[in-house]
Amino acid sequence: MRSFPPYRAQVVAEIPVTTRAERERALAAAGYNAFNLPARMVTIDLLTDSGTGAVSTAQEAAAAAADRSYAGSDSFFRFREALSELTHYPHILPVHQGRAAERVLFTSVLRAGQISVSNTHFDTTRANVELLGAEARDLPCAEFGDLDSLEPFKGNINLDRLEQLLTGPEADRVGMVLVTITNNGGGGQPVSMANLAAASRLARAHGVPIFLDAARFAENAWLVVQREEGYAGKTPRAVAEEAFGLVDGAVASLKKDGISPMGAFIGLTDPELAQRCETNLIATEGFRTYGGLGAHDLDRVAKGLHEVLDPHYLEARADEAARLAQAANDAGVDIVQPPGIHALYLNAGRLLPHLPASRFPGHSLACELYLEGGIRCVELGSLYLGTLDENNELVTPAPFELVRIALPRRVYSQGHYEYVAEVLGDIAKNPDRVPGYRIVDAPKILRHFNLRMAPVS
Ligand SMILES: Cc1ncc(COP(=O)(O)O)c(C=O)c1O
Repeated sequence: MRSFPPYRAQVVAEIPVTTRAERERALAAAGYNAFNLPARMVTIDLLTDSGTGAVSTAQEAAAAAADRSYAGSDSFFRFREALSELTHYPHILPVHQGRAAERVLFTSVLRAGQISVSNTHFDTTRANVELLGAEARDLPCAEFGDLDSLEPFKGNINLDRLEQLLTGPEADRVGMVLVTITNNGGGGQPVSMANLAAASRLARAHGVPIFLDAARFAENAWLVVQREEGYAGKTPRAVAEEAFGLVDGAVASLKKDGISPMGAFIGLTDPELAQRCETNLIATEGFRTYGGLGAHDLDRVAKGLHEVLDPHYLEARADEAARLAQAANDAGVDIVQPPGIHALYLNAGRLLPHLPASRFPGHSLACELYLEGGIRCVELGSLYLGTLDENNELVTPAPFELVRIALPRRVYSQGHYEYVAEVLGDIAKNPDRVPGYRIVDAPKILRHFNLRMAPVS
């Protein structure tokens, strides 16, 4: 790999250095839930790649010159132009973040009792479907079931099952198809253009609208260029434009591939649907030319959308993830293969075989990364996806016990990631000493954000 990041640091932020005793106290006070930790107690923050990217000097210059007019600001027109050039959708609405864009769109598309079908709904996406009394049904492709396989597009939707659903007894209940690129809830794996095109043909043949959850549209495009036959040599922008062109619209959090601290959009082809969304947006988010966003973020997004599609940037970012994946493997920790870009998914179930699913090995590994090295990340296993009884005992485990280490854009350098790999290596030398956890208290919905845990010796 001979890539290098096409930027250099110009302003830096100090990161906290803590002792193990301090981390033990902080984690206990946080109820063993990393979401409750104060950031000043975290050394390497790999909890999310959302809103955590480093902004460029060009973004900050544009933000400083932003136009804060309530209606028709120049900042909005720059935001809209960047998204129109990319998506070619005639209707673009700004929204403050992805989950709000989901709420506005889903409220205008779905009715109670309908089904939203996806390769995998992200957690807030699922919650926004369920809050409407609709059902969020995930149909990931069969290849995703083998964590070690090197299949290039394990984020695909299962086309056979999609067709069965659209032609079977529940066909009348299908309200929309939503394809998440890349598939964050499904190991950060990409979706191929062939799969997206086929899903789109199926949805359209059955009169069902199909949308993208395009939070990582640029990273998906880069992986298509690298992995899909017929796409080598294309620009990531051309691939992204093609993906948006295959569907009826998109929602996207722009806190990821918009490289902005805040922002999202809804893009639509259907004027009538756009009108309904706009009414909802004005009532709940803000006027149609700011949608709950500050003008500075409209301008940061307008610049970020260009920067994120720079092939040198995407190559360096993908290589950074691949190097960390290799280092984790060398240290004795398996990851979901092949590595994606925005995050690596550690196979905690395999590393900690002494812990049954009911003791949440993914959560145990995430806690250990914090205790050992001040590294914050999140479980994606039975704690997040399993079903619990009324006493918070695990009834149905998740298919896999994973930990997601997300890689913020342009933030950490090779040295930080080498440190992460060393901490992983130290844990992997003595995995037996990692304790399991039990749930002390858990809310019914979006529980991983608010639950409290305790170690079980
Ligand atoms: C695939 C996907 N969809 C939607 C969202 C929600 O976006 P936001 O955090 O901006 O509300 C996220 C956030 O991580 C995501 O990864």
